[in-house]
Parts: sequence; structure tokens; C-alpha cells
Amino acid sequence: MTTVYLNGKFLPIEKAFVPVLDRGFIFGDGAYEVIPVYSRHPFHLHEHLLRLQRSLDSIRLKNPHTVAEWSQLIKELLSNYQEQDLSIYLHITRGVAKRDHAFPENVTPTVFMMSSPLLTPSQELRDRGVSVITAQDNRWLRCDIKSIALLPNVLLRQLAVDTGAVETILLRDGFLTEGSASNVFVVRNGTVLAPPKNELILPGVTYDVVIELATSSSIPLEIRPISEAEFRAADELWLTSSTKEVLPITLLDNAPVGGGRPGAMFKRIYQLYQEHKNQVMRLGNS
Ligand code: PDD
Repeated sequence: MTTVYLNGKFLPIEKAFVPVLDRGFIFGDGAYEVIPVYSRHPFHLHEHLLRLQRSLDSIRLKNPHTVAEWSQLIKELLSNYQEQDLSIYLHITRGVAKRDHAFPENVTPTVFMMSSPLLTPSQELRDRGVSVITAQDNRWLRCDIKSIALLPNVLLRQLAVDTGAVETILLRDGFLTEGSASNVFVVRNGTVLAPPKNELILPGVTYDVVIELATSSSIPLEIRPISEAEFRAADELWLTSSTKEVLPITLLDNAPVGGGRPGAMFKRIYQLYQEHKNQVMRLGNS
């Protein structure tokens, strides 16, 4: 039995229902988070809750819980699961109201949480690297908000699945933005390049961790716009996300990236990432 949280109650997923007039259902009016859990410790929980606050502020939705309340609810949710490594999905909508685009007054937000076993890429996939395709980034201009309205991301990701690729990498006005559900890093001539955090990309928690690890290990790093030409001439490309961690790309639009195998810089950053994970778990906090 899978236990989920809905509006103050823990209940079996089969018994969790939301009214059809929920603004999440009608308008996609809400925000979400995906938080990985390793050895039962939520990883960088504080950063995920900070980003949630940013998303909610951006859509003018009052956060229904304090950080302490969220932490407690997450702890309670996790106590219903046996697995060591999980992923938590957290979702807030503007609530249930008569259909009208404008904000309803005095409506209680809908709060939903569920968890599932964390499915990180297999070692084999990480050793081999993955294939990606590219597409024009046709999403809106507030990609920094972790909005539940994901139709553009869904359509873009499906393009990859249709061709047997793992992710669709997006280009806007001749520059790299991100993946349909991940951030993208480029390595050129021994330097790690990352697109800047602005309204065109989601500020990934994993992105921040990778940048922090590169900086503290004195790996050359440049955070700046990356042109399509530079991106296509990369020695290495990586995807990052809470569920993919750091994943090397070895095929880009069917052409090999660098030597067509995961590069030396990937191996270094992935090892640093694993060490960081172990350290966070040993300390028992994020
Ligand atoms: N997606 N960019 C987009 C568009 C994303 O959807 C995600 C994550 C990221 C990476 O962010 P983070 O490192 O904080 O996971 C970047 C999650 C995993 C999802 O929607 O399932």
C-alpha cells in the first residue's frame, strides 16, 4: 500500500482524491518539487524548500507551511516507506474554486505529497553515457518557476522518447538553455561551462551542488551563456537532476560527443558527487 499526504491527512493513494475544480487540474495553477532521499535522509532539503518558496512567491501563492512543518510532514511521509533511497514529490495548487482565471478569494491551497523508490540511472548507463536530441526551446519565459504546468516539457521530452533518446536539450535564440527535465553542463578544453541562472532555466539544486563541487576542487568553471556552436563542439556534456544525478551524454543528435565515451572530467565530478552524498548522509542532515 502506498501512503500519500493530502491536505492534512496521510492516506492510501487509492483513497486520495482532488475535486475536479481544483485549479491544478483546471489551469495547472501550482508549483512542485522533487526531492531525492538517500539512506532515508532528504538530500539538500533546505535548498528544495527555498526553491519552493521562490516558486510560490513568483506565482503569488502563500506557502501553506513553514520549513519546520514541511520537514515534519516529510519525515512522517517517509516513515510509511521501507526503502532507503526514495524520491519525494511535493505539489501545491491554488485550491478548489469556480472556474475563473483570476485568483479566487479565501481559498485553501491543495497540498499533496507522495514518495516512490528513487530510480537513479544504472551503472551501465553511466558507464556508457546516454543519447540526447535537441529542439528549440518553445517554453514560456519563466522557466525558473517549478510550475506544475508542464505541457511544453512533456511534449519536448516525448520527442526524445520517440527517437529512443533519453533527453531533449533545448536551444533558444542560438544558446543552450537546459533539458526538458534537467540542467546541462558543457566541458571544453578542460573548463566546465554552465548557462547562467536566469528566467530561462530552472535553478537546479543538483546544478548548484555540481558548481559548488567544481569550485571547491578548483576545477576551471565559467558560468556564462553558451552558444549552440560551442555546445555542439563540446568535449563532454552532462545532464544533472535530482533523479539523474550527473549523467554523461555521449551521443548528441546521433553524433558522438568528444570521444563518444564519458570523459575524464565527468568521472572526476561524479566521484566528487558521490563523496558529497556520503558526507551529507554521514552528517545526517543536508
Ligand atoms: N526535474 N530543469 C528542469 C526543467 C527540471 O524539470 C529539472 C528537474 C531540473 C533539475 O533540477 P534539480 O537538480 O533540482 O532536480 C532542471 C525534476 C527531477 C522532475 O520534474 O521530475
